[in-house]
Amino acid sequence: MSADTAKIMDGKAISQEIQTELASETSQFTQETGVTPCLAAVLVGADAASEVYVRNKQRACERVGLSSQLHKLPADTSQKTLLDLITELNNDPLVHGILVQLPLPAGLDSTQILDSINPEKDVDAFHPENVGLISQGRPRFLPCTPHGVQQILDRCGIELSGKHVVIVGRSEIVGKPMAMLLVNRDSTRGPQAANATVTICHSRTTDLAAITQTADVLIAAIGKAKFITADMVKPGAAVVDVGINRTAEGLVGDVDFDDVSTVAQHITPVPGGVGPLTVTMLMHNTLTAARIQTSNAAVE
Ligand code: GUN
Repeated sequence: MSADTAKIMDGKAISQEIQTELASETSQFTQETGVTPCLAAVLVGADAASEVYVRNKQRACERVGLSSQLHKLPADTSQKTLLDLITELNNDPLVHGILVQLPLPAGLDSTQILDSINPEKDVDAFHPENVGLISQGRPRFLPCTPHGVQQILDRCGIELSGKHVVIVGRSEIVGKPMAMLLVNRDSTRGPQAANATVTICHSRTTDLAAITQTADVLIAAIGKAKFITADMVKPGAAVVDVGINRTAEGLVGDVDFDDVSTVAQHITPVPGGVGPLTVTMLMHNTLTAARIQTSNAAVE
């Protein structure tokens, strides 16, 4: 395939399609149970990017028919105050999902905070119990960004079963859980969107390009602007860009889009690629959380 014909995988359109599906599922759930799923977001400090993300999450809740709460705390909030708030939200039957926006201000112990969230309300899927369930192939919640990537690929007709997926980046939020989802036997979209042969590369990988060149699907999640160039990509590959880097020329991904578009067959843009899916899959998890807690309440 000639280069400049790389097909754009439109994350914004796919995100809207999934939100429409979720709105209908949520409406049916609320009619059947009388319960409106509720997401509580916790924002500590005034990081500009975090404020934007949290606002986007609240707007998405409205569109899908979920209710939301925003708990805004000052940057000098103590560990104890934050832990007390999490306990209150853990015990509130009207709250189904809890999201603590990261990064937290320096001085707060994020690990202790995230570990204190009730695993059944952990819609980010960061709690070790939920990470363990994912790694055993029986997830309770799916990690939002990796699940979004899986949705994009499958809804663009890209088969993953038996394919070589190379993930560049080993973060706890994207790289590692992405590998676990794709290596599992099944997925929310069926076995064709899983069962991949997965390689994770990182900053100590020797001869990175030699490995990325063997990828049928290349996923970049390293946080380095335009790091992936055409010479690192196999002709005809699908390339997913998870990066969001703020540079002098604006928001750019981890992939050099113009360059890589000349060899890839499919590519996600930044913005408008993976980003919109992260919020949408959080809505999916909030509905799942409400379903779990409502059926637990019924048997108690
Ligand atoms: N900050 C950047 N990405 C995320 C995310 O997926 N979840 C939370 N809670 N904070 C983030």
